[in-house]
Amino acid sequence: MKFFIDTANIDQIKEAHDLGILDGVTTNPSLMAKEGIKGEEAIANHYKTICELVDGDISAEVLSTSFEEMVEEGKVLAAIHPNIVVKVPMIKDGIKAIKWFTDNGIKTNCTLVFSAGQAILAAKAGATYVSPFLGRIDDSGWDGVQLIEEIAHIYNVQGFKTEILAASIRNGNHITRCAAAGADVCTCPLDSIL
Ligand code: G3P
Repeated sequence: MKFFIDTANIDQIKEAHDLGILDGVTTNPSLMAKEGIKGEEAIANHYKTICELVDGDISAEVLSTSFEEMVEEGKVLAAIHPNIVVKVPMIKDGIKAIKWFTDNGIKTNCTLVFSAGQAILAAKAGATYVSPFLGRIDDSGWDGVQLIEEIAHIYNVQGFKTEILAASIRNGNHITRCAAAGADVCTCPLDSIL
């Protein structure tokens, strides 16, 4: 199982990278805002800095929600560095955008996934990664790790190549259970790893 760090904080990324076990980084608009990164140029420069620090897949999320805008935004993000993975929300236009990126050789991370049905749609569109949100599922009274097991089973039976990226990880228990459930990647806040 690969370890990604879920933050836009450069010090935390460096700390995780220094451990020698970091395989990539995921960010999202609220994590970028938390670091005070605003505006197209500042965002692009921040992603460039992350890509130069960590040699692995770096998820950069689109802000728009229409097919045309997501494609335009994703093309700009993908041009920042070859390791950029365009993070696209699980909405109808998002599926369409993922398919477009797949057909045009751009890697994607389908985010905000809460069901196995959504994970099937993401895989059919050719997403590189699918991100089920475990912690949020737990918050609503269900068991997020069970969803990882279900998706892992379906992807295995169907031979889907999309990697399962367990997101919204809150603690070490999530990480070990995800590893047992067949997640390909866990993206974690630094304090859940250390
Ligand atoms: O990886 C998704 C993450 O950033 C959301 O986490 O803890 O706010 O549900 P959380």
